[in-house]
Amino acid sequence: MVLCRRRRIFKGKLAGIGFVVLTIVVFTQYQDFLFLNCCNSTQQKNYEWHLTSPSFMIRTTNLSEIFVEVKPNNKNNISIFKAESSKVLIQTAARTETYINKRLQKHHQACVGKEFIIGREPDRSIPFHFQVSKSHQLIYCSIEKAGTTFWRRVLQVLDSTNLDNPYQIKPLNVNKHSQSLAKEDIFRMLAKLRTHAVFMFVRNPFSRLLSGYLDKIYTANPYYWAMIGKEIRSPEMNNAIMRLDKMKNLRRIEKTQIPCYHDITFDEFIQYVIDAENTTSHKRDPHFMSMYDLCKPCQINYDFIGKMETFKNDFNFIMGALNISKFDVNDLEKMASDDIFLDVATSLDERRNEIVKCMSMHEAYLRSWKHMQIRGLISNQQNYPYSEKQSQYLNPIKFVRTLKTARSKSTSKEDLKRQKEQYFVDIFRTVELKKLEKLVKVLRNDFEIFDYEAYPEAIFVKNIKERLNHSEIFDVLR
Ligand SMILES: *[C@@H]1O[C@H](CO)[C@@H](O)[C@H](O)[C@H]1NC(C)=O
Ligand SMILES: *[C@@H]1O[C@H](CO)[C@@H](O)[C@H](O)[C@H]1NC(C)=O
Ligand SMILES: *[C@@H]1O[C@H](CO)[C@@H](O)[C@H](O)[C@H]1NC(C)=O
Ligand SMILES: *[C@@H]1O[C@H](CO)[C@@H](O)[C@H](O)[C@H]1NC(C)=O
Ligand SMILES: *[C@@H]1O[C@H](CO)[C@@H](O)[C@H](O)[C@H]1NC(C)=O
Ligand SMILES: *[C@@H]1O[C@H](CO)[C@@H](O)[C@H](O)[C@H]1NC(C)=O
Repeated sequence: MVLCRRRRIFKGKLAGIGFVVLTIVVFTQYQDFLFLNCCNSTQQKNYEWHLTSPSFMIRTTNLSEIFVEVKPNNKNNISIFKAESSKVLIQTAARTETYINKRLQKHHQACVGKEFIIGREPDRSIPFHFQVSKSHQLIYCSIEKAGTTFWRRVLQVLDSTNLDNPYQIKPLNVNKHSQSLAKEDIFRMLAKLRTHAVFMFVRNPFSRLLSGYLDKIYTANPYYWAMIGKEIRSPEMNNAIMRLDKMKNLRRIEKTQIPCYHDITFDEFIQYVIDAENTTSHKRDPHFMSMYDLCKPCQINYDFIGKMETFKNDFNFIMGALNISKFDVNDLEKMASDDIFLDVATSLDERRNEIVKCMSMHEAYLRSWKHMQIRGLISNQQNYPYSEKQSQYLNPIKFVRTLKTARSKSTSKEDLKRQKEQYFVDIFRTVELKKLEKLVKVLRNDFEIFDYEAYPEAIFVKNIKERLNHSEIFDVLR
């Protein structure tokens, strides 16, 4: 096997050389972080960054101490900023908008005693989560599966002179052009976090995990199948391969012909999340990782924390505070589902060659159809209209058109909302109660810091009565 031979070589003489080369590469790439030239020797000592091989992660001796720097001495003293700065505008508006004010106060209370709980992401990846709008001096901390793509687009539109609608940016181009703070050295980053208006959006942890499962694992996605599948079903394969980058990783996986893992159940997925959060033996993924760990909400002083559950109000709050009248939230909502359809159709098409190695395109389309029903975008009375043979020749444009037709024939908005809630409850009924309780335990920081109900009746009470079988909900070929 190719993999074994390579490993043996690596273990021998080449290992030393490889290590030196890699160290130099990593060193060059991260020298901004390694050599802090701003500060005197005492500070240097506190902020020493060092390599922890062999994972090549860069850590501070104590990141908590650095993040404490971000907090101004007096939390509420914003008099040093100009009255028209975004920070002042948002903080001022937050004081007068009752529900926002209450939320922030609850947040500050929840953070008491958690100032030094920094999670397991104290490395170079943190600045990648901070997106900047230069024109409005805004910093958005992105949490995967909580509106990230949308906000990255909005920030780009705000900084652009020729764009006026977030959906003009194709989903695939969103990350290419977004401005992250990762290019800054740590002290400039911290300075910006102090002077810009800093905000984030969070989502109910249960909904967020379901969304992650539907989007990355249930929807045909061979890259995720391989990555998560290995974590779940053959953890012993892991350590050697997982540190390579995504594409190399995928090619390796193809070579060694690891199974497809297209049949990971929601129950297995939840177990993976528990293990990944509670132990270091599983690779974590930002889409399924605890939210507090991505954005450090008790170390960084957020001026605003939005919630996906009150998205329209929260969006209007920010835009109102900043006096931006460019967007109509109702128009955006309408465009959002078109955008989802397009994204679903084009990504299936792009992955076609990989997908057919694991399942028929027919099954892949049927899964995406079901996904749209679970999300309440089309009614579950609308059936996928193509035969197995027709599915083979289905193109993205036609699939989008079919989804739109199904949406137009779907029942009222209220019915779709009920349908979505029913699926939500039913899907969590496929998971053992004990497992859900463990899940709440490992995610307790998210529930507490962002004020979400940890034991919602809908999930926990109904789960006691009657469990559901995964295939009753998800099997599309039945
Ligand atoms: C280094 O800077 C810190 C903070 O500004 C200061 O408290 C300390 O006295 C300085 N140390 C030296 C040796 O200059
Ligand atoms: C980091 O620093 C804080 C504050 O100085 C301290 O409470 C905490 O125990 C330190 N953590 C570690 C791992 O040293
Ligand atoms: C805020 O800071 C300014 C200048 O640094 C100071 O004059 C003022 O008293 C402070 N206000 C409060 C409420 O601490
Ligand atoms: C808000 O923007 C409008 C134009 O877009 C402007 O006329 C108005 O003065 C602004 N209001 C404030 C409070 O800045
Ligand atoms: C997390 O891991 C510890 C140590 O292995 C174990 O005692 C604990 O039960 C685990 N917690 C959950 C929620 O699985
Ligand atoms: C779930 O249902 C399928 C098909 O009805 C069946 O084959 C399978 O054994 C069931 N699994 C469990 C755990 O009941």
